Amino acid sequence: MSPLSLMKQHAPDWAPRIAVVLGSGWGGLTKHLSNAVQIPYAELDGFPQPTVAGHDATLWLGNLGAQPVAVMSGRKHGYETGAVDGMAKPLKMLQQLGCHTLVQTNAAGSLRADMPPQSLMLITDHLNLPQRSPLVGLTGNDRFVSMVDAYDSELNSHAALIAKGQGATLFEGVYAWFLGPQFETPAEIRMAQRLGADAVGMSTVPETILARHLGLRVLALSFITNFGAGMSAEHLSHAHTLSQAKEGSERASQLLAEIIATLP
Ligand code: HPA
Repeated sequence: MSPLSLMKQHAPDWAPRIAVVLGSGWGGLTKHLSNAVQIPYAELDGFPQPTVAGHDATLWLGNLGAQPVAVMSGRKHGYETGAVDGMAKPLKMLQQLGCHTLVQTNAAGSLRADMPPQSLMLITDHLNLPQRSPLVGLTGNDRFVSMVDAYDSELNSHAALIAKGQGATLFEGVYAWFLGPQFETPAEIRMAQRLGADAVGMSTVPETILARHLGLRVLALSFITNFGAGMSAEHLSHAHTLSQAKEGSERASQLLAEIIATLP
């Protein structure tokens, strides 16, 4: 069935305004949803079937406070097939349903000694290090998307205000995208630090580009699961990312739920 008709069948007379992508550690957000319905990606044409342990594949429709939201629990990563446009169809569909904002979350490694694991970071800008784009192959002048203010400054101020109100520390910084799936080398981490990055990860940037192309405003948050390779004695693994993310999930989701419920 087409995603649009399936969604209408699940929730007639209802349209989401905010699309959310949940990365590792952010699954707790769905506990804050009211009147939620779940649709497995398998039932939605064009939605990805994730191949990563610990990553779900469910679309949740519901409300956070008075805000109607569509929450994608699970995303397609560039490292799964090499293609970086795996989220193009889901995002287009959610925009067509009425979403004007995309809230993104991820797990990331810290490049800053003063931002330890379990920190939360608001992404204020990114480095597209692989220089891959989900817009390659499109035609038309609107493919030449401005990436200035890609992470919306008004939404960022709002998130910072809510964090302050909760007494939560919310770092701000630049996210450097590495394609993965291997973790970075210590030399790559030093390079990213010198280029001005504050965190590293394997997601988010393609979706931000897609969202800006669709005219969606973007807000993005990283949950810091580790220091970048070579910065500490810690051994990096996917299991380590998941266990760290699980530990801080409750607190991160609490903050995110309030940020979204009160978004302008
Ligand atoms: N590197 C890349 N991706 C990540 C990391 C990291 O250190 N931690 C969590 N996701």
